[in-house]
Amino acid sequence: SNKIVIAIDGYSGCGKSSTAKAVAAALGYGYIDTGAMYRSVTLYFKEHNIKLTDPKAVKAALKEINISFVYNDKSGLNETFLNSKNVEKEIRKMYISEGVSEVAVIAEVRKAMVDQQRKMGKKKGVVMDGRDIASVVFPNAELKVFMTADVRIRAERRQKELFDQKQLVNLEDIIDNLKKRDRIDTSRAESPLTQVEDAMEVDTSFMNFDEQVNVIVEAAQKLI
Ligand code: C5P
Repeated sequence: SNKIVIAIDGYSGCGKSSTAKAVAAALGYGYIDTGAMYRSVTLYFKEHNIKLTDPKAVKAALKEINISFVYNDKSGLNETFLNSKNVEKEIRKMYISEGVSEVAVIAEVRKAMVDQQRKMGKKKGVVMDGRDIASVVFPNAELKVFMTADVRIRAERRQKELFDQKQLVNLEDIIDNLKKRDRIDTSRAESPLTQVEDAMEVDTSFMNFDEQVNVIVEAAQKLI
């Protein structure tokens, strides 16, 4: 069969990564969470006190950063490794969510991540989620999906997810964080979040999880 690249872009917290993961599993495809890559860079910068306004320090740090995804048999999920350390849990914390969009605006950071993402998707048979996948990373992706959802609904889902990880976070704080990230992501000069013309829009506000997975899997199966 014909292997394709599936690009999933959209706003923060509308279920892109869980949907992308399930789509990949249904098709037997690989899954690449590009947000996890920007989150890992953010963690590294914080751990090493890299000043975002110091281009030399940023460039040198990027050379030291190696990000990979390793399949965990036990959880059945891909986990993010930063320089051979499992950072999957750490990068989901609020302090990383608070800082990541400021890191993701840096052109050198984006260049380094996009290079890696293109290598990871070269053989096709992948689902990649992020903000600039259809517009920049894989403009020739065979299937492009743009996900949206009402911001309050997104925040409620996010709050439940954090609660399940034993993190109690105020709903209004999550709404503020989502809005702030959406604003930075859509207005930045360097590859802003945008819905490309040939993307299929999936608004998940009133869809359940299976519905949002199925609509993408069905669109993919027509192309495979
Ligand atoms: O997808 P996730 O919410 O984990 O992404 C975290 C942040 O990383 C986003 O808010 C955005 O600032 C940045 N990002 C990006 N480009 C991508 C993926 C994520 O700028 N392809």
